[in-house]
Amino acid sequence: MTTSNKLFWKISATLMVLLVVLGFAYVFISGYIGNQYMQETHQRLYGGLAESVLKELKPYTKGQVNETDIKDIMHSTMIMNPIAEVYLLDPDGKIITHAAPKGKVKAEKVGIAPIKEYITATEKPFIIGDDPRYPGTCKVFSAAPILEEGELTGYLYIILQSEKATAISSGLFNSYMTKLGGNLFFVSLIGALLFGLLAIWFLTKNLTNIISTVRRFKEGDMNARIADTDQGDFKVLAETYNEMADTIVGNIDQLKSIENLRRELIANVSHDLRTPLSIVKGYVETLLIKEENISKEDRVKYLKTSMSSLERLEKLIAQLFEYSKLEAKQIEPKKEPFFVSELAQDVTAKYQILAKAKDIKIVLNKKENLPLVFADLSLVERVIQNLMDNALKFTPEGGTIGIDLDVTDNNVSIQVKDTGPGIPEDQQAHVFERYRKADRTGNKQAGAGLGLAIVKKILELHDTSIHIKSKMNEGTAFMFQLPAYQTT
Ligand SMILES: Nc1ncnc2c1ncn2[C@@H]1O[C@H](COP(=O)(O)OP(=O)(O)OP(=O)(O)O)[C@@H](O)[C@H]1O
Ligand SMILES: [Mg+2]
Repeated sequence: MTTSNKLFWKISATLMVLLVVLGFAYVFISGYIGNQYMQETHQRLYGGLAESVLKELKPYTKGQVNETDIKDIMHSTMIMNPIAEVYLLDPDGKIITHAAPKGKVKAEKVGIAPIKEYITATEKPFIIGDDPRYPGTCKVFSAAPILEEGELTGYLYIILQSEKATAISSGLFNSYMTKLGGNLFFVSLIGALLFGLLAIWFLTKNLTNIISTVRRFKEGDMNARIADTDQGDFKVLAETYNEMADTIVGNIDQLKSIENLRRELIANVSHDLRTPLSIVKGYVETLLIKEENISKEDRVKYLKTSMSSLERLEKLIAQLFEYSKLEAKQIEPKKEPFFVSELAQDVTAKYQILAKAKDIKIVLNKKENLPLVFADLSLVERVIQNLMDNALKFTPEGGTIGIDLDVTDNNVSIQVKDTGPGIPEDQQAHVFERYRKADRTGNKQAGAGLGLAIVKKILELHDTSIHIKSKMNEGTAFMFQLPAYQTT
């Protein structure tokens, strides 16, 4: 049996039990109310009985009880009114005489308070008093005071729910109630079957749909989503499920793309490391094989080439390490206020020798009174260095590299421009991706393609971004902004 079916049957069973319990409760409550109704009817109908009897009877003659007269009239009253049981009481409620068979009357006294209340009430209310035959139980009654020469000598007390009447009515009551209960049970069963099951089926229909969708997802159908979430009774559940499924799929996609990048990284790295390594290996092998049979110049040449390959390797590994750390968010920028103009000055000085060797001019262009910026000094230095590296690498001899510093609003903008070959427009957006080198066949300027990727990551850490402006055969400019230091 499937889960949804189980749920259906569970709800059905619960409903059934509820209906049966309600049925019993209904029978019980209507029985109770019916009984109340009967008692009140009796008291209203026969409430005057005690008074009427007293009109026919003088219970006392000169202080003496007329036993025989009383018993006669008690008998005839009880025969004519089978619901009645007559008692003669003294003023305190003590039973003086009655017409019941011997042993039937158990109590010697009845409570006088309800009798007094009944007599003094102007409108005959629904009051119950002690039943002498069953001490502890109370029943409706009729009562009237007995006065002799203006003095209270006792009460005539008539129980209006005689033992006989109780027996008959409770027998009838039980049989009617059994019938009613049985019918109710039957009707509720049919009702539950017809309407309840139908209603539950309607209600669980949507749930069944949700469960089957969830199961499909579990079994690998990543596109399983609940349609029509608005129409169902389980809107929140359906929507939450859909969102959850989207999140899971999103996470899986992200993991997949990370995994792809990792693979790509390994492939590229192994390729990039292999070239300089094999160069070094080749030269070292030659040196070993030839030993003494090699001229001094050649030896120096081989060693120099090996050295430059080793330097490339070193740089590549350092860059990879830096990029990985940036990507894994292991680098926290330590921000401090500093003058970016001073930094630019230092970097320019460092690159001066390299530029001279290529006959390239470096021009630093800065606005007066530039404010302090608030950033990580060494990371910003890396950014400018990487941009300078590229400019120097790609600008042909005799070119110019410019560093422009300006201020706009609350930012200091930094621009590194060159008179190099430019970057084709379709590739401009991709140069910031790692291992991405603008396609330039015959490009001898070997690099890992990590420089700009590192720049982008560092600027992301500073909540800013880098822009590119480039024209083929004219030059390239990279610019970014850093926030000015707010003293207040
Ligand atoms: N100033 C520039 N002029 C022309 N092309 C550039 C310039 N700067 C970057 N590029 C292009 O963008 C590519 C990516 O630059 P990036 O600095 O990321 O890598 P790289 O310089 O090739 O290698 P690395 O910086 O890791 O040594 C370069 O290979 C180059 O094709
Ligand atoms: Mg570079």
